Order: sequence, then structure tokens, then C-alpha cells
Amino acid sequence: MKRRGFLQGLAGVTVVVVGGTVWRSADQGVFSAGNGPAYEPWSDWRAASESGPLALVRAGILAANPHNTQPWIFRVDEDAVELYADRTRNLGTFDPYLREMHLGLGCAVENMMRAARANGYSAELAFSEGTLGPIDSQPEQARVARIALSEVGPTEDALHDAIPRRHTNRGPYDSQRPVSSAALSSLAAMADDDDGVGIMMFTENQAIAACWQLIVEATEAIIADEPMVTDSERWFRHSWEEVQAHRDGPTLDAAGLSPVMTAIAKVMPRSSAETNHRYWLDATRDVQVATAPAFGLIGVQDLYDRAQTLGAGRIWQRMHLWATTQGLAMQPLNQPVERVDRERELGFEPKAARALGRLVGEADWQPTFVFRVGYPSRGASPSPRRSAEQVLV
Ligand SMILES: Cc1cc2nc3c(=O)[nH]c(=O)nc-3n(C[C@H](O)[C@H](O)[C@H](O)COP(=O)(O)O)c2cc1C
Repeated sequence: MKRRGFLQGLAGVTVVVVGGTVWRSADQGVFSAGNGPAYEPWSDWRAASESGPLALVRAGILAANPHNTQPWIFRVDEDAVELYADRTRNLGTFDPYLREMHLGLGCAVENMMRAARANGYSAELAFSEGTLGPIDSQPEQARVARIALSEVGPTEDALHDAIPRRHTNRGPYDSQRPVSSAALSSLAAMADDDDGVGIMMFTENQAIAACWQLIVEATEAIIADEPMVTDSERWFRHSWEEVQAHRDGPTLDAAGLSPVMTAIAKVMPRSSAETNHRYWLDATRDVQVATAPAFGLIGVQDLYDRAQTLGAGRIWQRMHLWATTQGLAMQPLNQPVERVDRERELGFEPKAARALGRLVGEADWQPTFVFRVGYPSRGASPSPRRSAEQVLV
């Protein structure tokens, strides 16, 4: 359905459901954005009554992660926290080598390292080495990182304090307000070349147009790929009950729609996977890339190296936390790299990899994460989280 048709359809439904609106609104949580047990981890992450290594887990679960799958399991000892990848929470054809899963785990590591220092520990991090492979070849639970702790006394950290305020912002950004070159340089300086991770920013018109095209074409390819649509839709939570029961997945509240459109979408019956993904393409093209004043890439030397992927995830989380302290909004738009994985899985011509290679212009540097940054036109809502207790072994 075209956007215009969708809006007209919505207008019709608004009139029809007037009598039932109040009941249905409550049922769908129209007025309850960010409330309920699924959102409590955002407010109780720093329980005053508690100290010790569990604080790392409470920070870790608030990290960015692909499709809000929260693919993590934590083991806590007196002097260490271990992080495991939970293969069962995979995205199938959207992430056939668990590359994005490991980026998300890297994001959790960054939050945990910040929480360690803020809670009085010196922290020594060790990543598991190895190469990422097809989902079925991976163990159901695999240790990816160990953080050894020793008590030294707390350190103040503005990025740690920003953890509960960081949310992916999928709404419009102020396209007339450029991000200063000082801010862009600060973001770009967050990668550590020694870990095999680098950052590239794009602000010139020509490069912005190239990013725009790359992201829109990749989104079009995804919505034409039925297994990808099905695997993505599996995680989407439409109703209030679904959000509170699963406490994961993308939600309408976090989709970046205006408050009115969010309320309308909530009282409508759930659309088909195909229609939902058509809206996603429209929003990507007409709102997200159309209003972005700058794009960026995080790259690695080896796209399927486990430690480099975890390191790239750490960098994304750090950049997003810093952006939060500056009033900047950020959003991953990782469709081009998702297509790189998918074309590889299917043995297709590597069109997406070539297009990304042309943008980057450096053969020994492979993008693993694409994002936009800018000043937000409206705030972002939190996404649901399973509690720390639910993800401990
Ligand atoms: C590896 C990775 C890829 C992601 N790709 C996208 C994306 O393409 N589009 C998007 O809107 N968000 C993307 N996200 C953001 C997640 O959907 C988001 O982190 C998750 O839903 C949790 O929400 P929060 O970041 O607001 O806490 C990505 C995050 C990660 C870590």
C-alpha cells in the first residue's frame, strides 16, 4: 500500500472506532509509553540498596542490540562477570553469521566496562577469539567476554551516567542544523585502530547522497526478500501485552512516529509483515535518510572476526553515549551490511559489499555498521528490556 493510501485508510478507521477508542486505547497501551515492568530496567538500573558485580549486568542489558533481541546471558561471580552469546535469540536470514549479534554483545561490554569503573572496580577485559560462522555451526551458548574485577574505588564518568538516557532515535532529525566538525571529530576519534576498528564520517553532499542511495537500495532488497521479512517480523511486538510478555523486540513506541501516528497505529489491528516492512522502507527513505545531516560507518579489518566485531560494538555504544551527553540523536541504518551477509549466505554476486567498498574506497577496511547522526526533531522512547534476573545463569 502506498503511504497516501495508508494515511487515508487511517482517517477512515479513526472515525469508525470512535465508540471503542477508550477501551481499545487502554488495551493497546496507547497512553502507557515507557511504563510497565518491561521498562523498569531503565529506572532501577542503579538500585541504591545494591552494590557488587550485578551492577554491571544492570548496565549491560540497557545496551543497543540488533532488533532488540537482547542475545545475552550473564554469569556473575564475586570477582568477574562473564558474557555469553545466546544463539537461540538470533535473527535468522537478517544476521546469518551472528555478526550483528556480536556487535550488540560488544555494546553490552562497553556499558559493563563503564559500570565497573563507576562502581569502584578496576576491570580487565578478555574477548574470546575466533571467527564468526553460520548460525547452526555455533554453540547454543558461547562465552564471548570475561571481565575480571578488583576493587579500587569509584570513578566519575559522564558516559556511564548517560546509559539510561541513550535511546535509538528513528524520528526526523533537524536537517538544517549541521553537526559541528568538532563533534564529528570527537565521534571519529572514539575508535582504537589497534583493535582493528575504524570510523568514517560523511557530511559532504555527494557522500551523503551515496549513503542515502546505499541504505534505500539495501532496504528495498530486504523487503523483496521474503525470508528476511519473516525473520524480522518475528521479533516485532505490536500490542501492550506482547511488549510486557516478551520485553524485547522493536515496538511502535520506539518506531520514531509522531505521537498522533503512534496512537493511531496502536489502535489499528496489526498489519501484515509485508505492509509493515513497506512502511519501514517509506520511513527509511522519506524521514530517516532524508533528514540526516551526517552519516558514518564503523569498519573492521575482517568482517567476521569475533573480537573485532565485539570491539566495533563497544565503539558504537561509546559513540551513542557520548552523543547523548551532547544532545545529539543517533540511529544505526545497517541494511547495507545486512545485505552483505545475506548475499554471502545465498552465494549471490556481492553487490552490497561492492557498493560499500566504492563508498569507503579502501580495500583493507570493511564496514560493519552504518549510522546517521543529527539533532533530533523529537525525543526517542525507550525500548523494552528483560530484567537482569531473567538473563543470569
Ligand atoms: C548491530 C546493530 C544493528 C542495528 N541496526 C538497526 C537498524 O538497521 N535500524 C534501526 O532503526 N536500528 C538498528 N539498531 C538499533 C536497535 O534496534 C536498538 O539498539 C534496539 O532496538 C534497542 O533499542 P535502544 O537502542 O533504543 O535501547 C541496531 C543495533 C545494533 C546493535
